[in-house]
Amino acid sequence: MDSGANYEVKDLKLAEQGLLNITWAERHMKALMQVKTRFSKEKPLEGLRIGMALHVTKETGVLVQTLMAGGAEVAITGCNPLSTQDDVAAALAKQGVRVWAYKGETNEDYYRYLNNVIAFRPDITIDDGCDLVTEIHTKHEDLLSRIIGGCEETTTGILRLKAMEKDNALKYPIIAVNDNQTKHLFDNYYGTGQSTLDGIIRATNILFSGKTVVVAGYGDCGKGVALRAKGMGAEVIVTEVEPVPALRAKTDGYRVMPMKEAAPLGDIFITVTGDRDVLTEEHFKLMKDGAILSNSGHFDVEIDVKYLRSASRKTVLVRPGLEEFDLGDRTLYLCGEGRLVNLACAEGHPSEVMSTSFCGQSLACEYIAKNRGKLSHKVLLLPEELDKQIARLQLDAIGVKMDELTEEQKAYLASWKEGT
Ligand code: ADE
Repeated sequence: MDSGANYEVKDLKLAEQGLLNITWAERHMKALMQVKTRFSKEKPLEGLRIGMALHVTKETGVLVQTLMAGGAEVAITGCNPLSTQDDVAAALAKQGVRVWAYKGETNEDYYRYLNNVIAFRPDITIDDGCDLVTEIHTKHEDLLSRIIGGCEETTTGILRLKAMEKDNALKYPIIAVNDNQTKHLFDNYYGTGQSTLDGIIRATNILFSGKTVVVAGYGDCGKGVALRAKGMGAEVIVTEVEPVPALRAKTDGYRVMPMKEAAPLGDIFITVTGDRDVLTEEHFKLMKDGAILSNSGHFDVEIDVKYLRSASRKTVLVRPGLEEFDLGDRTLYLCGEGRLVNLACAEGHPSEVMSTSFCGQSLACEYIAKNRGKLSHKVLLLPEELDKQIARLQLDAIGVKMDELTEEQKAYLASWKEGT
């Protein structure tokens, strides 16, 4: 490990590769680069400290540089022990960014690093999964009055924050960046869809065509994963607990059934529910010999990995990111320790979708700065106009033009008198 007063990263010598990767990401994040250019001129974040717990990837590297261009000082740690790209962390450290992160963090280091970000005394927090907000609210209450707002990147984090809001425990405003249309309709759907399969393929190099893939959960992420698996020639089974998504999955052409019925049929299992205990002992005992298990939900609670480890006669790391569990009558394989397979075994979502997600983070920080002291201590949406602005930036970035309403069309839409 290389460490200094303001960083702890795997190896500073990786910085050159990290910079090349950040530059490669920039090329595909043109919308975010436009925000960066404006931020460099207007400095909307001047004088603010932004503390981040986000996957330390090349795309996050571009976000960090955007916030700094806006005048902010930034401190960052990861939000998952296996998702850090060590070259990117090294590049950020070399640029003088406060960064504490490495791939394969122990639980102790994970929380030590979160506390380094907290010790930086941020004015704004950016979280992916709500661990930073929770740590501040439970252990650093003295900081709560100085923090002007926060941003949350993911569905799981929003669920935790809404539970805090319901308990009257949330002590500063949070912008639900995940709930931007330009985030969840793209990042969760196209991003998770592609990167999840990318992770499983890098860990196993398995052929999807002709396999039966069981997707647990049919939210935006599950929809994307199911579509990509089908597109690669797999037969897809969806499991759900909510009637509307279950009906949607069936109508989209998938088989829908309880996990106990799907367990003996699946070759590859992908959990994306956001809840715990989706694949447990009762399911493992029904699975085919050789079944592959993976999770793309935020936390590693969806697959009962503890059971697999305790029941296994012998566990072998077959190749990076793939463990083999000998359960006596069958062998099961687990990708990425049951953590986010797209980041543990691949590089997370492609830069193009992270561009609109991180425009959301940047504009949310600017919105918090502009509305300092005026926002309620609730989970808030970014105004729709800003969401549309992000879509326009991205359309512009990829060279897509669209029509405009005529004055007559606007008047028609605004009137209630015209009918048949
Ligand atoms: N979440 C999913 N993919 C990501 C990426 N490439 N960078 C940051 N956060 C992510």
